[in-house]
Amino acid sequence: VDKIGRGGKWQGKNVLISAGPTQEAIDPVRYISNHSSGKMGISIAEAFYLQGANVTVIAGPMALKPTFSGIHWIPVVSAKEMEEACLREFPESDWTIMAAAVADYRPAQVSSEKIKKKENTLEIGLEKTTDILATLGTQKRSHQKLIGFALETENEEVHALDKLNRKNLDAIVLNSLKDPGAGFGLDTNQVQVFQKSGERHAFSLKSKDVIAQELVDLFHSWK
Ligand code: CTP
Ligand code: CA
Repeated sequence: VDKIGRGGKWQGKNVLISAGPTQEAIDPVRYISNHSSGKMGISIAEAFYLQGANVTVIAGPMALKPTFSGIHWIPVVSAKEMEEACLREFPESDWTIMAAAVADYRPAQVSSEKIKKKENTLEIGLEKTTDILATLGTQKRSHQKLIGFALETENEEVHALDKLNRKNLDAIVLNSLKDPGAGFGLDTNQVQVFQKSGERHAFSLKSKDVIAQELVDLFHSWK
């Protein structure tokens, strides 16, 4: 498809997407992570790419890879690495979509040796990571658009709207784990988009690829 040609709707636009989980080391052999597959972020990257955008993906550790070699792929492991890559790439970005499931906490101390099994219980002290999206929200210039995701299991709308405002976003995509067909590792999803303007859009259950195309078309309608 790289050779067949792409649509032109997003030609000339730089799009930055974060995707996948992060891994936070405990010791040389263990880490804390989450169930994100990266699928939604990759689908969004491909949808933008197929409409002509210059696409960069900052990708946590994942098995999935995009189909198109023209997508600029920046692999990272930890929240700290994802933060550094996002801060570096953000100034050049016209549209930034933060779809990654960034760890909220990391081990405060990383053991340089493998932790040996001793007592019956083990406590690992954790410290907060930087909220990358909120940081980008403070750096956003007027021509830049910033979109977040919200993963919720209760009080979904209240939490999503709070994140939209608190992180200075143009829109937030709400993923509710309560919705059937929505969740980790599935090829389908069901999302709602809340815009800063107050407008909202509900996307019924469908494949992540189709949702991504519809999201990208929705974003285009704002321009
Ligand atoms: N996010 C981020 N950096 C973090 C944590 C989250 O950039 N350290 C981004 C995610 O990529 C997502 C948005 O913030 O776009 C919301 O993530 P979510 O986990 O739903 O919300 P949190 O603000 O982390 O709050 P909580 O997990 O307590 O619901
Ligand atoms: Ca979180």
